Amino acid sequence: MSPVVRYAMEFPDRVPKERYFDPDFYQMEAELLWPRVWQMACRLEEIPNARDFVEYEFLDQSIIVLRTDRGVEAFQNVCRHRGVRIVQGRGTCESGFTCPFHGWCYGVDGKNTFVSQKRTFAEHNLQPDDIDLTPVRCEVWGGCAWINLDDDAPPLRQCIEPFATILDAWKVESLRTEWWYACRLPVNWKLAQEAFVEQYHVVETHPQLRIPSRYAPPKGAFDPRAYIDADIRYLQTMSDGMAGMVHANDVRIAEGLRDMELPADPALAVTAWERALNDAVLNRHRDAGADIPDFNDLEARGLNEPMGYCFPHYFVLPMYSSASSYRFRPLGPEETLMEIWSLTRFPEGEDRPRPTPPEPWECDDPRWPPIPAQDFSNLPRQQKGLHARGFEYMRLSERAEGHISNFERTVDGFLAGLPYEKLLPALQSINVNPLEMPIVDLGFR
Ligand code: FES
Ligand SMILES: [Fe+2]
Repeated sequence: MSPVVRYAMEFPDRVPKERYFDPDFYQMEAELLWPRVWQMACRLEEIPNARDFVEYEFLDQSIIVLRTDRGVEAFQNVCRHRGVRIVQGRGTCESGFTCPFHGWCYGVDGKNTFVSQKRTFAEHNLQPDDIDLTPVRCEVWGGCAWINLDDDAPPLRQCIEPFATILDAWKVESLRTEWWYACRLPVNWKLAQEAFVEQYHVVETHPQLRIPSRYAPPKGAFDPRAYIDADIRYLQTMSDGMAGMVHANDVRIAEGLRDMELPADPALAVTAWERALNDAVLNRHRDAGADIPDFNDLEARGLNEPMGYCFPHYFVLPMYSSASSYRFRPLGPEETLMEIWSLTRFPEGEDRPRPTPPEPWECDDPRWPPIPAQDFSNLPRQQKGLHARGFEYMRLSERAEGHISNFERTVDGFLAGLPYEKLLPALQSINVNPLEMPIVDLGFR
């Protein structure tokens, strides 16, 4: 590893605290990480029709993401005259964009179509191609548009495997927004994500989830009725706690199976229950005309993962018919914008409203559902705690918190300027289910 990365991960199970607040480290991320990665720029349902656009901002950059007749395209959101941002927020453009300052115009293909008082400019300042909007790489996957400022980066799909294959099997592209919230967190963006990628915190932070069905196999004398009751209680508690993820409809479907007969053998009983619930959810949604995967088939193929992680800032947590999805963006060394989508399935072809970005709430806003509220309650205390003079580094459990190490070391790979042939294997070993991931060898330190 290049010695220029100050506060690099010298030991895989220790994270130097400065990574979460040092302004120079943050600056290195701004220059060497964010401009080289595929970022989830918007959900496609935000731009359902040709000429719909949204502005995607990260750090001090702003990108126009535009649906065209050809697909989805992106441009730097800056007028080639004197640098005004062409659009703000979102909208639908008739025939292109007009800069609000002096009225230069750009078509939906980004080409400059009008310069007022053209003859007052020297010819060298109005060279064709040199006055068009600057294109940005944009690709579509999983119901979202993704952008990358780096022309040399490998294609999206390569950078986000095996996440993409697993979530394709989940038919993630047909999920739609039920709600979308945003939180302004007074913490570093890496700290924010790291609160959601391990299960070690669940017992202490979310005591209501201490339900012995999902987290502990049945012990002692097995009572099938008690097992079903506990599992339905777990599903209900998750559903209430996330205001989704396990959709209320799926909980009702489970309720409808409450009296089913289960074998006396615990292992057979658990399998029989899970299979029956999977089939019931599948059939209900298929009958309603929704595009939905066969969960038993996912299970058989080893793709029934509860969480998909996509470096550097996007997660999907699928549960039965529905999912939660998170995105994180830095607003400063110690400030993060975290968004949560609750996604579900609707009958194919059903018109859904175009989702609009939420006003961020503070992390202690009483409107947060209970589970994120509990996670948010720890984060500002942790960010403050990191500054303690007596505290040097986080110590990670190498089995329960391995993803945090893998993630932080992948960040270091970008900061060291490693080439993509080194970074790709690292990306492909962290773009998986991060829960319970051990520390892995990334091929570099
Ligand atoms: S800055 Fe856009 S037209 Fe002048
Ligand atoms: Fe949590």
